[in-house]
Amino acid sequence: MQRPDWYPRLVNTFEIRLFGDPVLRQRAPEVTELDGDLARLVDTMIETMHAAPGIGLAAPQVGVQKRLYTYDIGEGPGVVINPEIVESSGEWVYDEGCLSVPGLSFEIVRPKLVTVRGMDLDGNDVVIEGDELMGRLIQHEIDHLDGVLLLDRLEKAARKEAMRELRRQVEAGTLGAMTDEDTGRRL
Ligand code: NI
Repeated sequence: MQRPDWYPRLVNTFEIRLFGDPVLRQRAPEVTELDGDLARLVDTMIETMHAAPGIGLAAPQVGVQKRLYTYDIGEGPGVVINPEIVESSGEWVYDEGCLSVPGLSFEIVRPKLVTVRGMDLDGNDVVIEGDELMGRLIQHEIDHLDGVLLLDRLEKAARKEAMRELRRQVEAGTLGAMTDEDTGRRL
């Protein structure tokens, strides 16, 4: 169902932090307590990710310094707490975007297949073998937890050009504008 513009949103969402916000540049500490507050954080992150719309969201992107990310590549939402990549292989080129760097995407080469290990909200072990898009998502979100943005994965010249474009958009006040083509590349 298509909701009209005036339809009230019944869920809370966070504001997504954009390029330039220092919270995106810090390493997030491990989660040490699994409690109701954390469960509410995860719920609101999933709502925020769906509303964006995006397919992956790391806690620092909503200003929260904790090592966890949510995901949904179309098979239902999930969370990985204290994620760690335990195996990676192959190479895959993907036109990668980011909710915190909206409107821009870059062809980036990264391992194609990665295995991430972490836990869910109940403290159970979670192991996900991510191929292609899921593999990319895992690597992109863990980068966020380390304060790394996709711009840092570019070659020097491409990075310089991207930074120039981003500064131009920040000055023009147009950072945050997205096109329909961005859908599906928002990590
Ligand atoms: Ni991102």
